[in-house]
Amino acid sequence: MADIDHEKKLAALEAVKYVKSGMKVGLGTGSTANLMIQELGRQIAEGLRITGIPSSEKTRKLAIDLGIPLISLEKADRIDLTIDGTDEFDPYMQLIKGGGGALLREKILAYNSDLVIIIADSQKQVKRLGTFKLPVETIPFATYKIEILLNKMGLQPKLRQKDGEHFITDEGNYILDLNIKTITNIPLLETTLKQIPGIVETGLFLDIADFIIVGKGKSTLTLK
Ligand code: 5RP
Repeated sequence: MADIDHEKKLAALEAVKYVKSGMKVGLGTGSTANLMIQELGRQIAEGLRITGIPSSEKTRKLAIDLGIPLISLEKADRIDLTIDGTDEFDPYMQLIKGGGGALLREKILAYNSDLVIIIADSQKQVKRLGTFKLPVETIPFATYKIEILLNKMGLQPKLRQKDGEHFITDEGNYILDLNIKTITNIPLLETTLKQIPGIVETGLFLDIADFIIVGKGKSTLTLK
């Protein structure tokens, strides 16, 4: 296993230690989250009793394949714990997520969770956010106008593509990936973006992570 994959696995296994029988668990999306979901599947086969709330259709399929019982968000009232990956995190535990395009449901799960644990390999750590392009989910009807506006703001939006077509999220929306490298006031950027009609959600997860478990070499480090 490559070093990065090993770090992802270490972080995933460490996070699963927080899962106890009876919990409702928000299941993240992406390769790191998948490792956590596989471990949950393994433990369920050995008697762990939990229900999962998936953050994407990909995660839903994986969880079903692994025999993890699922419930819908409306039936879950509160979620005890959500475990999810990230594309970047800074020293203040602020995140960019949405590389896999699931940022909207991921943020909704995190918002409705008592505890949010983020799992990551050490490469995801940055001094300041913005090396990774910021995904923003937009309603198709408004996307062209939003692109023009964001271009004027210097954010160089790129409409995400997959297999030669527009990438479509699980909620039927588009994703614009923004260059935020030169932005210093990230909270202001979040507020500004959220005020634009047609922007449904951004991949900025500010003050959302309760802790971040980072795989580093052969062990893990927990940031709180
Ligand atoms: C999906 C996400 C993922 O958590 C993020 O892209 C990290 O993925 P990976 O664990 O594969 O690096 O936000 O929308």
